[in-house]
Amino acid sequence: MTDQAYWLHHLCIYDEKPRDHMWNWLKWYHAIPQYYWGGEEFHLTDEGHVDYTFLAAGSGFQIQMESPPFQFKYEQEWHAEHGSGVNHICWIVPNAKATVDYLMSNGCTTRMEYEEFGVYRGYVCADPEGRWIEIMDYIGDFKTPDVEFRPVGIPGLQLFGATQLTENLAEMSDWYQRVLGLRPIHGGVDEGIVFLADEKHSAERNIAMIMAEPQSEAERVLMQEHGPVISGANYQAVDLERADRDAIAAGFERVSELAMDERTGMRTSVLREPSGNLVYLREMLAV
Ligand SMILES: [Fe+2]
Repeated sequence: MTDQAYWLHHLCIYDEKPRDHMWNWLKWYHAIPQYYWGGEEFHLTDEGHVDYTFLAAGSGFQIQMESPPFQFKYEQEWHAEHGSGVNHICWIVPNAKATVDYLMSNGCTTRMEYEEFGVYRGYVCADPEGRWIEIMDYIGDFKTPDVEFRPVGIPGLQLFGATQLTENLAEMSDWYQRVLGLRPIHGGVDEGIVFLADEKHSAERNIAMIMAEPQSEAERVLMQEHGPVISGANYQAVDLERADRDAIAAGFERVSELAMDERTGMRTSVLREPSGNLVYLREMLAV
């Protein structure tokens, strides 16, 4: 069991056309909680700005859009192999340095050695199936800003978390509970999908990480091409029909119509965002 907490913070999308693709998210009730123009503590691109931006939609979980050129060789190599895609989920911890040996001794492999930057300290590793985990703690009072912790827009949209596709749901669900201290709040291994929440989960901070076996053709294709992968962002909405219509109007592609997902007992639609990742939209999960 871990002696420190792991709190969900963001998923990171490597996107080759972030300026174009950001509009789809913004049209779909997102806001930009932070855009870094630069400074000594951040990585500057050839154009003189920082290569990432954060987007938010009504919750404590955010999307980081990151664009080429990437800062580190390990990032460039991932991009050369996978192209645009979801690169990692980031977890805030009280002490990033203390996670390194702990995660290594629990089957993780290092992707970026522990490093202290100007405003945060970080470490990146891959979980036992290869999906990336970013660990971060803040220095001083620096923090990426939150925007809203209430459903936003006319349909009441909330970014809920991310789906990770797995080859062994029982093992990986157990691993995230045992190593990162998460707890299941919905679904189950027998259903093929498990919603896992961190210790700060509450009605106000209703976010989770979802571990699932691939079910649809779209998910199976992702797994065939990339192995166990973070397949996309998850949303919940008060007015599901409206949120679904508005997503199409904002430029997302239809993958599957709004229908009952027998595994979760929740009406769900699946969309695709411009850089190719899946977007899962479903009814609100009561806390
Ligand atoms: Fe990140």
